[in-house]
Amino acid sequence: MVIRPIAGGVQVLAPAKLNLFLEVLGKRPDGYHELETLMVAIDLHDTLSFEADDSGRIALKCDDPALPTGPENLVVKAAELLRREAGPEGVSRLGARIALSKAIPAQAGLGGGSSDAAATLAALDRLWELNTPADRLRELAGQIGSDVSFFLDTPAAVCRGRGERVEPLSLDPESSPIDFHAVLVCPPVGVRTPDVYAGLTPPERPEPIGPAIDAFLSGDPARLGRRLFNRLQPVAERIEPALGRVRSALIDLGPSLDGHLLSGSGSAYFGLARDREAALDAAQRLGDLEIGTIRVVRCGP
Ligand code: C5P
Repeated sequence: MVIRPIAGGVQVLAPAKLNLFLEVLGKRPDGYHELETLMVAIDLHDTLSFEADDSGRIALKCDDPALPTGPENLVVKAAELLRREAGPEGVSRLGARIALSKAIPAQAGLGGGSSDAAATLAALDRLWELNTPADRLRELAGQIGSDVSFFLDTPAAVCRGRGERVEPLSLDPESSPIDFHAVLVCPPVGVRTPDVYAGLTPPERPEPIGPAIDAFLSGDPARLGRRLFNRLQPVAERIEPALGRVRSALIDLGPSLDGHLLSGSGSAYFGLARDREAALDAAQRLGDLEIGTIRVVRCGP
């Protein structure tokens, strides 16, 4: 995540993510599900700007009127949680004016809200000069949501536990030239994550994540395409039948894509392409079908 200075504060580009592999290992006593997932950041970003404000108020403005800007917004939650780290004196003194410009659709499985929260932790830690240790920032991230920690450690990681235990993959440009391109389809309908998990029966024999990690690190889209897997996909398609149309449209593109998958709990799908030209070509062919917003995205460092 890049934090750059702007007049009066800092600006952060908060990336979206794709799940290239997601298996559910079981249901936990706390109601969450034990996961094993391979996540990568993509070049679709929300933009956040932060100005310090010593009034002690956290004020969020967002260009998407559909999103709440009160305490239920993960950005506000992250800011409140972080300033409590500075004790009662910090709570009365530390404030911020935050502007959020959305490009990542909500309820799409792309981690937009989680990424915004991680950006907030990183940016306000800098702006408020708290120097919170990295481990503590990760703990706070885990309290906000299962995917938030990943975004502190992008661009690619294996995440376990309920998603908050992040093992970053070291991407050596010599041995792992990671440069994947995909066409992303965001249908006009969203899917609520809790509904998907509630409709899931964990498998008796989980799929292993190892082959997907190896395929990812090989940098070969054809190999990775064969290993794409998401346990949540059939459940999300049952909940929202419109998703089936998106999958059919991706299947109809045939071998011009190396594979396709629902990201997270949906509703966005991606089709993995051989290269950027193939992704652009797929985007053009999908553009006429009125199945959603179509973009070409890249994953990699
Ligand atoms: O952690 P987060 O708030 O993003 O999770 C949203 C919901 O998704 C949870 O309330 C839970 O119902 C479900 N979930 C789950 N197991 C996970 C992650 C999320 O059951 N590992």
